[in-house]
Amino acid sequence: MARTSHGDCESLAGMTAVGVELSNCCDVTGNGSADSTVERCAPECLTRRMTQLTESVRLETDGDIALIIVDNPPVNALSWHVRQGLLDGMTTAVADGAAGIVVICEGRTFIAGADISEFGGAAQGPGLQEVQDAMENAPVPVIAAIHGTALGGGLEVALCAHYRVSVAGAKFGLPEVNLGLLPGAGGTQRLPRLAGVPKALEMMTSGRHIGTAEAQEAGLVDEVTDGDLRAAAIAFARRAVAENMPLARVRDRDEKVLEARGNTELFAKFRASIARKTRGFLAPEYNIQCIEAAVNLPFDDGLAVERRLFLELMTGPQSAAQRYAFFAERAANKIPDIAADTPLVDVARCGVLGAGTMGGGIAMNFANVGIPVTIVERDQASLDRGLAVVRKNYERSASNGSIPAAAVEERMALITGSTDKGDFADCDLVIEAVFEDMELKKSIFAELDQICRPGAIMASNTSALDVNEIAAVTSRPESVIGMHFFSPANVMKLLEVVRGAKSSDTTVASTMAISKRINKIAVLVGVCHGFVGNRMLFMRGAEADRMILEGATPAQVDRVLYDFGFPMGPFAMMDLAGLDIGWKEETSSTSTVREVLCENGRRGQKNGRGYYTYDPETRASTPDPEVEQLIKDFAISKGVTQREVSDQEVLERCLYPMVNEGAKILEEQIAIRGSDVDVVWVNGYGWPLYRGGPMHWADSVGLGEIVERIRHYSDTLGGSHWELSPLLARLASENGQLQRFSN
Ligand code: 3HC
Ligand code: NAI
Repeated sequence: MARTSHGDCESLAGMTAVGVELSNCCDVTGNGSADSTVERCAPECLTRRMTQLTESVRLETDGDIALIIVDNPPVNALSWHVRQGLLDGMTTAVADGAAGIVVICEGRTFIAGADISEFGGAAQGPGLQEVQDAMENAPVPVIAAIHGTALGGGLEVALCAHYRVSVAGAKFGLPEVNLGLLPGAGGTQRLPRLAGVPKALEMMTSGRHIGTAEAQEAGLVDEVTDGDLRAAAIAFARRAVAENMPLARVRDRDEKVLEARGNTELFAKFRASIARKTRGFLAPEYNIQCIEAAVNLPFDDGLAVERRLFLELMTGPQSAAQRYAFFAERAANKIPDIAADTPLVDVARCGVLGAGTMGGGIAMNFANVGIPVTIVERDQASLDRGLAVVRKNYERSASNGSIPAAAVEERMALITGSTDKGDFADCDLVIEAVFEDMELKKSIFAELDQICRPGAIMASNTSALDVNEIAAVTSRPESVIGMHFFSPANVMKLLEVVRGAKSSDTTVASTMAISKRINKIAVLVGVCHGFVGNRMLFMRGAEADRMILEGATPAQVDRVLYDFGFPMGPFAMMDLAGLDIGWKEETSSTSTVREVLCENGRRGQKNGRGYYTYDPETRASTPDPEVEQLIKDFAISKGVTQREVSDQEVLERCLYPMVNEGAKILEEQIAIRGSDVDVVWVNGYGWPLYRGGPMHWADSVGLGEIVERIRHYSDTLGGSHWELSPLLARLASENGQLQRFSN
């Protein structure tokens, strides 16, 4: 079947390969069948034989070292043919008498984990444990050669090698928790054995990727190379053979887990430290339980606990939602009607107009990734104030260790302040973040039109205004777009990119690309009041306001949404933002509860009194009987009779109008796909990730049930937000799904 080249080689019998393709140094003919005789080169000969084992894995030899090479783009995930190839590679290499074995990957990364798209499907090929057993129990040294990211199942495979060699910039992690899972291939038992319990707890419950220095310190990496990884791993393998290094099995190393045995306080303290952040999520707690098993049980019993809890998570709704969210986030970046080869504007310098709450944070995003920013304010005092806030934010990040101390000055040096819009002339992208006032924005865009270079993108950070109206005052509406950042703009991941009727493909594609570069999760939306996120939020707010007149209390509404998984409910949120945003004493007309509260001197958290009363020391909120009385009086003045409102009704009336509005957004083609709506809500509005987003959640409740309840509320309450979306009605009748809907 194949031809072997051979020079100064020794003979090796019994190669069980499916195909052999050969290289240039030697010159012997063999064949790849089980009974063939294949030649093996002496180490110094460096002959490379190649055997394609499966579609994604091949076996090569370099003298007496076998290399199992995974090539499964884009991220070398452990698809069934990778597992099959790894197992075949181990069996063949051992049978062929290799002196050492290197597992290495092609492309941009080492194995980045299990193939998530295979989860939930029929099992095919060998299980990962079979592969790992073959590695761990191999009679010769097995070396994992790591570049890119060794994540999840990828790191778990590497932990079954006897040694690990990596390039300097590699990253390591067990991020399964982000998918609502735990490492299900022995990682929960091996990581604490290698890195110690505190490190394993932190890594597994956060999913954080660590760099090589940290990995080396934690014992995950034995050697780091600045040179060629393949050569370094082969050299390491040869040294392991020559020096008779032990076949180190992580599973046998008990010192670090024994250290923690009986230390219940360690676990109790850790649980308390992550309680707030992980509220509602099952996976962090299950990860901790697996580490407890590693500490308290023999290895194989610990593995059994891991298996049981992994399966429970894998088949549960939380992980299904989190895996869905993973792919939804990646889908959002794909714009079906824009060609992949659309020319992009290269953003080498960015301009930001306005250094207020949003402008400063927006500028930080660009400086954080090394893009110089020109920030322009209307006067020096406002500029100084804005830049001082930016500096303070960086200093706070440096003091809590999230950026290095030196980064403060480096990043500040990338931000140039000015009071002259003319300084935008050399910017490739200018983002306007001045007050939310259409006339002001229009005059500014007319000015920018005169200043910006041809081809530069001109973006508005408006949260609800009509981007088309803004674009129309320029001579180049094709270059105008919305970039709706969320507050705090340097922290929040979401960015709604608002495509105007005339935004060109280049403008859209470039804005999506730059959003990714500044580490945002961008979702392309169309022009309408409030775009996707705020438009749906308005519906929830309208119904929450209505319910407190009918007899629900603000605390009840907030509690129901908090228990659902939101970080806070609408009334606590209004108190936080300030009840007097957009309110003026002179024009106040007692027409809403919010106005009444403002008129009674209740401005929210900032003066300790809003829908709630706040403790001046702790900022803890308490429902206030005075507010309840104000609401009751207001209801009477409006002729609304109060009654008891059940928690279930609160939930339905807050969330079903959002689902209905989401469906209307889809039928109006304001969003491309149902999953995009979910990406907006999970990343911008605190929708609990473990519930996937409003579209995914609605599908899990059942669209038929939701349609029936919307009809009921429409009949009993009325209001345009209860008018049933025809798309929702259709999908319900066809057994369709909102999360899969695509325009
Ligand atoms: N399985 C299947 N597909 C995957 C995948 C995985 N584990 N990881 C990434 N992909 C796909 C993405 O969907 C995307 O596909 P697309 O191009 O069609 O949209 C493509 O690979 C590239 O992904 P990214 O856009 O995310 O590429 P980046 O370069 O930005 O990031 C990465 C690369 C850091 C590896 C990132 O993709 C990532 O974090 N992946 C997930 C890693 C992970 O969670 N691993 C654990 C999996 S669960 C597990 O291993 C269980 C085990 O314990 C048994
Ligand atoms: P802000 O009031 O904090 O800041 C606006 C800044 O613009 C001020 O510093 C002001 O001095 C400056 N400015 C006003 N006119 C100017 C001019 N002609 N030239 C230069 N600078 C000028 O307002 P904020 O909150 O930053 O909002 C800005 C925009 O961002 C608005 O369109 C708002 O709707 C939008 N937005 C706000 C969010 C928020 O949570 N604050 C969230 C998302 C969007």
